[in-house]
Amino acid sequence: MLTIALPKGRIAKETLEIFEKIFDKKFQFGERKLILEDDNFRFLLVRNQDVPTYVYHQAADIGVVGLDVLEEQRLDLVRLLDMNIGICKVAIGIKKEEELDFSKPSFKVATKMVNIARDFFSKRAIPVEIIKLYGSIELAPLIGLADMIVDIVETGETMKQNGLKPAYTIMESSAHLIANKNSFYAKKDEILDIYEKISLTIKG
Ligand code: PRP
Repeated sequence: MLTIALPKGRIAKETLEIFEKIFDKKFQFGERKLILEDDNFRFLLVRNQDVPTYVYHQAADIGVVGLDVLEEQRLDLVRLLDMNIGICKVAIGIKKEEELDFSKPSFKVATKMVNIARDFFSKRAIPVEIIKLYGSIELAPLIGLADMIVDIVETGETMKQNGLKPAYTIMESSAHLIANKNSFYAKKDEILDIYEKISLTIKG
């Protein structure tokens, strides 16, 4: 039995569709249910940012989560496969009428991805004050809380609708299949089997 943590939303839906293709049967959570059990798999529906936590603590053996979340959280996990879904980027956003200009003495950067943002600016010796937010990041430059944001851009629509534009791509992201280190050892055959099946399905 493998326990699999999935992030609520489109990635969970697309992952379950991959499982449906592989096993030729329905995998569907009941209304408002957060757990789906089957003979061989137990799926957990968790918050995106919580997937690595479940897998790291071995509450789940494997999981599916964005590379952006993995890079932000830096937990010791096995990265098995780029699933090529949930494609987005982590970008710097600024007001649409502005140009990216790092020559000012200091900047305020609002983000929920403080580690990725801090690394980016410190590697370039750009002095910034990082302001941690938990959501609605696009609001920050509009009301003067920050000069710029570091946030996820998928379609670009949220930035656009809030008078911002992506000005620099920090990293590209997509959903990855991850495993707990102990599970990967203890349940190697099962994990490699599903890894191979998923690989073949997303490539075919
Ligand atoms: C992200 C991000 C943006 C939005 C970008 O939030 O913070 O607000 O999506 O998407 P777009 O470019 O297609 O408009 P998301 O809803 O993924 O998650 P959150 O719950 O972590 O804020």
